[in-house]
Amino acid sequence: MKLRPLVPILGFFLLTACTDSRTPGAAESRRADPQEVARGAVLYQKNCATCHGANAEGTPEWYKAGADGRFPPPPLDGSGHAWHHPREALKKTIREGTAGLGGNMPAWRGKLSDRDIEAVILWFQSLWPAELYRNWSLMDDQARRAPT
Ligand code: HEC
Repeated sequence: MKLRPLVPILGFFLLTACTDSRTPGAAESRRADPQEVARGAVLYQKNCATCHGANAEGTPEWYKAGADGRFPPPPLDGSGHAWHHPREALKKTIREGTAGLGGNMPAWRGKLSDRDIEAVILWFQSLWPAELYRNWSLMDDQARRAPT
């Protein structure tokens, strides 16, 4: 009964990722450690929810720059464009912020570790619809294989 310890974990993913069943590749990579996802949720609520919303829903009309030319916090729940960015790009935005690019996103370097940032990403990705996650996953694979 080697598989026994996996049962609770599989149960979790049946709840969160069962609609991925048509796409084994994406379903595979979405099998994130539930403890890390839960840790990411806590870190998100503590550090990000004030701007990006409790459910990562972002600001209405997030795509319109304000009077100062800066963009408001976008959604991270899959309804924005965060899924256009490979994991490394998401990590970089979170780590470095966008002040250097004339934006309003604070930098989290020194406040959140790389592992923390990855956990937060896992959490908001758990909100993405299966199809969107699959597309992101294919794009991320390509980005990782491309020479930098
Ligand atoms: C003070 C408000 C504020 C806080 C707090 C904040 N953000 Fe942001 N975030 C922004 C703004 C504003 C942008 C839009 C980028 C820009 O133009 O500055 C952004 C952009 C982003 C993006 C890029 C999204 C995209 O669609 O390209 C990601 C990812 C992100 N934030 C994640 C986070 C995470 C994770 C946290 C918590 C660790 C966080 N943010 C905390 C304001 C904030």
